[in-house]
Amino acid sequence: LQVPVVVPAAGIGKRMASDIPKQYLRLNGKTILEHTVERLLSHNNISQVILALHPDDKYFQSLPLAQNPNVKTVIGGDERCDSVLAGLKAVNENPDTNNAKAVMVHDAARPCVSLEDISNLIKHYQQTGRGGILASPVRDTMKRSNAQQQILHTEARDNLWHALTPQLFNTVELISAIERSLKEGAVITDEASAMEYCGYAADVIPARSDNIKITQPEDLHLAEFILQQQYQTNRN
Ligand code: CTP
Ligand code: MG
Repeated sequence: LQVPVVVPAAGIGKRMASDIPKQYLRLNGKTILEHTVERLLSHNNISQVILALHPDDKYFQSLPLAQNPNVKTVIGGDERCDSVLAGLKAVNENPDTNNAKAVMVHDAARPCVSLEDISNLIKHYQQTGRGGILASPVRDTMKRSNAQQQILHTEARDNLWHALTPQLFNTVELISAIERSLKEGAVITDEASAMEYCGYAADVIPARSDNIKITQPEDLHLAEFILQQQYQTNRN
């Protein structure tokens, strides 16, 4: 089974507060976007990546990635879900991936995803026919407060997860779920939330918690460290 991957990479990285969008910052000498896409393409079940880029992107064209025939680009939108939707529509139009039954969506800002976790996500879909997302169980005690930051109660931690990416769903169902959610004004922060909103199946697949989304400056060193550890482990 070959599964195309839509990679939203059209954000401006406000919280990173650097002069260039965070996906173009370098870790161990290579841009975050290159780390992410190269890792995805190194997976046996992935041969097509569709990147959603900012309309004013001026960094992508100078990367070797721009010459890779397995990488296609589309123009992203104002919100992450707009960028994802643009990519999904291209999957459906692309003759190489046409009628791809399943599609994955993976954040450009998550270069540390493990190949084994991606395999688990794909296997889950093949074995159960149900879409899913990589997720890691929450570790800390979870508090619910009011707007004045007074604690109301402690949330039960069982069955509470951090939603990560990739997220894998049937392509046609995911497109219709996102379109309907947008039309009805539902707040969707990931693909699964659109699927949940429309009543489609979405499962959590337990995954490594070091699949971090690089968000703030301090995450850069952490990601470099995680990538170095992973390279060392793979060499041994
Ligand atoms: N993204 C996108 N289109 C948008 C917004 C975000 O393609 N309109 C992408 C980002 O490039 C990133 C992923 O979605 O790879 C996850 O978003 P996030 O981590 O929030 O990145 P940014 O939106 O760029 O960062 P910030 O929220 O700090 O501005
Ligand atoms: Mg954002």
